[in-house]
Amino acid sequence: MTEVHVYPPSEEFVKLANVSGMDAYRKLYREAAEDPDAFWGALAKEHLHWHQPFEQVCDWQPPFAQWFVGGKINACYNCVDRHVLAGHGEKVALLFEGEPGDHRAITYAETLASVSRFANGLLALGLKQGDRAIVYMPMIPEAVFAMLACARLGITHSVVFGGFSAEALKARIQDLGAKLVITADGGWRRGKEIKLKPAVDEALLECPTVENVIVCERTKGDVTMLHGRDHWWHTIEAGQSEHCPAVPLDSEHPLFVLYTSGTTGKPKGILHSTAGYLLQCTKTVNWVFDLKPNDVYWCTADIGWVTGHSYIVYGPMSMGATQVIYEGAPDTPNFDRWWQIVAKYRVTIFYTSPTAIRALIRQGDHWPNGHDLSSLRLLGSVGEPINPAAWEWYHKTIGKSLCPIVDTWWQTETGSILIAPMPGAVPLKPGSGTLPMPGVIAEVVDLKGNPVADNHEGYLVINRPWPSMVRNIWGDPERFHDQYWSKLPGRYFTGDAARRDADGYFWVLGRVDDVLNVSGHRLSTMEVESALVHHPAVAEAAVVGKPHEITGQAVCCFVTLKKGDYDQEALGKELRQWVGHEIGAFARPEEIRFTDALPKTRSGKIMRRLLRELVTNNTVAGDVTTLEDLSILSTLAAQQDDEA
Ligand code: WT7
Repeated sequence: MTEVHVYPPSEEFVKLANVSGMDAYRKLYREAAEDPDAFWGALAKEHLHWHQPFEQVCDWQPPFAQWFVGGKINACYNCVDRHVLAGHGEKVALLFEGEPGDHRAITYAETLASVSRFANGLLALGLKQGDRAIVYMPMIPEAVFAMLACARLGITHSVVFGGFSAEALKARIQDLGAKLVITADGGWRRGKEIKLKPAVDEALLECPTVENVIVCERTKGDVTMLHGRDHWWHTIEAGQSEHCPAVPLDSEHPLFVLYTSGTTGKPKGILHSTAGYLLQCTKTVNWVFDLKPNDVYWCTADIGWVTGHSYIVYGPMSMGATQVIYEGAPDTPNFDRWWQIVAKYRVTIFYTSPTAIRALIRQGDHWPNGHDLSSLRLLGSVGEPINPAAWEWYHKTIGKSLCPIVDTWWQTETGSILIAPMPGAVPLKPGSGTLPMPGVIAEVVDLKGNPVADNHEGYLVINRPWPSMVRNIWGDPERFHDQYWSKLPGRYFTGDAARRDADGYFWVLGRVDDVLNVSGHRLSTMEVESALVHHPAVAEAAVVGKPHEITGQAVCCFVTLKKGDYDQEALGKELRQWVGHEIGAFARPEEIRFTDALPKTRSGKIMRRLLRELVTNNTVAGDVTTLEDLSILSTLAAQQDDEA
């Protein structure tokens, strides 16, 4: 291993930190490891409001866990009401910046009033505890209110990222059996209106369970409203009372389902419940983001991904944070939009992705250097491994070498951050998520479950249940078991490869399955393949990730065609659009390569490993003894040379 530079926290940072010094971190870690029930039980009492106390901390019947059994709780109450009741109603919850430059500062008291009015509107439509609602919205405060109003009433929400297509939206509505869709006319991105309502209309042609659609007015673009089904947000909340009691819910009440890509063509509905999820989101905001009452926090994620759920809505709001939410693109009107926002709101904690950092590096230092970033005191990274060069730039150019960087490893399934430094305790190593959170027993093992030696690559597993862990895959407990718990019984299989160094630091290397990570967004190769083979011209498709300077990985597709005459250039363009239509624009392949045949094993399995090697190294050196027709490889490689 090459020598890495270690960055210990500064004395000033340690002095003020929520967790100060390695001994304090080790003490927390040890307490949690020795008696997890006592540890989490005490935190749950201290940090959450309970309508009824729990009787048992954890009931673990692998692979099913229940946390805080017997307790009654409400996530919305914890994120909003309790702050108002504690006298912080005038504190700003959301500093909203629209892409066109409009802004709103919304206090906790105003949040409570808006959420309650809207929740009463939902009750008036006949919605009730146990129903499911889809949220398909731009990054505006109403997206947060919609989630919180659902949580208030015990309606399980599923947020679908606004970049997903009508097809993808439809599949999620159907899988969830949703009764309600909450959307908007559209949102602003790169100066253009991105319409949402037409995709909802298209999806709903085949979604009989949906009874009502609520449309928030954002862009004021044209929309078609279906009489009896569609309602404007402002008419739903008009005349409603600002008082709406939060429903006391079981600790294990399903708070939300979030769809994510797995290794098949069908996305998995990751189910999270209420109390454990909320607790660990709350505590990690305190431990990892070192949040203080006066901080101005900004996470640039979209609400449609788990980062938006845990580190915009539930974690920070449960902590009573003041946070920025920004609607649009980082390059609109110019590449300094983010830095302008940091300076304008005096942001102190800033959380983003390596992809975004790399894209901004490319635009030059004059963009950040033109703004006063002196309010920043802590930086964060999430979604993929951060390469040391990007880390160093982030540290120096954005953080002026004064701000610790917390590289946070977690997943949609883990619910909250599991591996990350506590910034006032753990010395940083660029590219490493460093050490596990208290209560997280992580290990790097081989396929038999034996720990591998220091600095050797293996599978990252978690040996014990943790409060915010995925509870199930919606409607598919068998897949839940197979996917996460069958490889090493009783231990959670993350699907990531990792190394642990002699200091116990974790270095996550990437996925070991057929899951791509494009710009920190998870995408399944099978999903893209099944979209491609839906096209009438396509016979077969194999999709692999290709290393990409900015997005980490790019989608590269090998396609064989049915008999016929094709203009390959035009068809290539068409197929890229096609995938965009089937999944969403963010999934559009970077490259489509036409080939006469795909490399396969004798039993007919496509050898994606070889294709991956081909697009990564331009040649194939790996074992090809099982390949059916070796000539295919040289043909594919020759095509590559022609294109280069
Ligand atoms: C996968 C989870 C966690 C919210 C965003 C993505 C990769 C995530 C890191 C990191 C290295 C990371 C892993 C993981 N990943 N954070 N700090 N260092 N890899 O959530 O879509 O569920 O994807 O993202 O491969 O398994 P997700």
